[in-house]
Amino acid sequence: MIFINNLSKKIDNNIVLNNLNLRVKPGETKVIIGRSGVGKSVLLKHIVGIIKPDAGTIEINGENITLMTEKEINKVRMQIGLVFQGGALFDSMSVEENVAFVLNEFMSLDRKVVRQKVADSLAMVGLKDIEKMMPSQLSGGMKKRVSLARVLCMEPQIILYDEPTTGVDPITADAINNLIVELHDKLKVTSIVVTHDMSSAYKVADSIAMLYHGRVIAEGTPSEIKMTNHPVVKQFITGDAHGPITENENLVFGHVR
Ligand SMILES: Nc1ncnc2c1ncn2[C@@H]1O[C@H](COP(=O)(O)OP(=O)(O)O)[C@@H](O)[C@H]1O
Ligand SMILES: [Mg+2]
Repeated sequence: MIFINNLSKKIDNNIVLNNLNLRVKPGETKVIIGRSGVGKSVLLKHIVGIIKPDAGTIEINGENITLMTEKEINKVRMQIGLVFQGGALFDSMSVEENVAFVLNEFMSLDRKVVRQKVADSLAMVGLKDIEKMMPSQLSGGMKKRVSLARVLCMEPQIILYDEPTTGVDPITADAINNLIVELHDKLKVTSIVVTHDMSSAYKVADSIAMLYHGRVIAEGTPSEIKMTNHPVVKQFITGDAHGPITENENLVFGHVR
């Protein structure tokens, strides 16, 4: 379903992705872990075609998106929901306008149909009757749910979550984890969840991949990752300050002159 081959990307003078390989099977939830600045968001942006790679390919349902025109990519993009790190709601729009944004922008649907789709997607994330509220009236957790509802509105085959539990309290985080699991079980969506929250990773993942120095250095089921002997992975999942990753390690590893 998602097949990433030798993906490389330099931003400014930093090598962010270096021959990265990753494969996500249909219906699978793949969790990507790794420190801040390691390139997790950059990887997700490649998958939706917001960023073009320097080298390598990204295949989605057998189609190489790196060779596509903007118009062709837009079609693929309609099947992929990206839940942004900060939620990325428009502050000047109501919840309803936010959730319906892409529907209103790109599809000519009846207003009633749109209203129903919005209500249905909000219900899926456990929110009701908040259509008229403004983002400023919502808690952080509600904002995250609304941005997930906006993605669900499009009935995507693939959902990419960028740090869905970062910055919310543990109970809200657990509710979001449950939602990710539910969407996986009920809708059989293929998902990539980027996180540095290990309890979330263990809960939602079919498979976990760790990003380090521009590539995937370890991959396995939650129990395989828990039992790993890989020093870098072990240090990351236990949050140990003493180990091969140093505190002030240049987060982007490769500086190209
Ligand atoms: N638009 C950009 N311009 C310049 N540097 C960027 C940009 N986006 C990301 N980077 C750099 O690429 C590296 C990886 O960033 P990112 O993917 O956001 O990390 P994270 O793993 O925390 O999501 C960081 O060093 C970041 O500063
Ligand atoms: Mg990020």
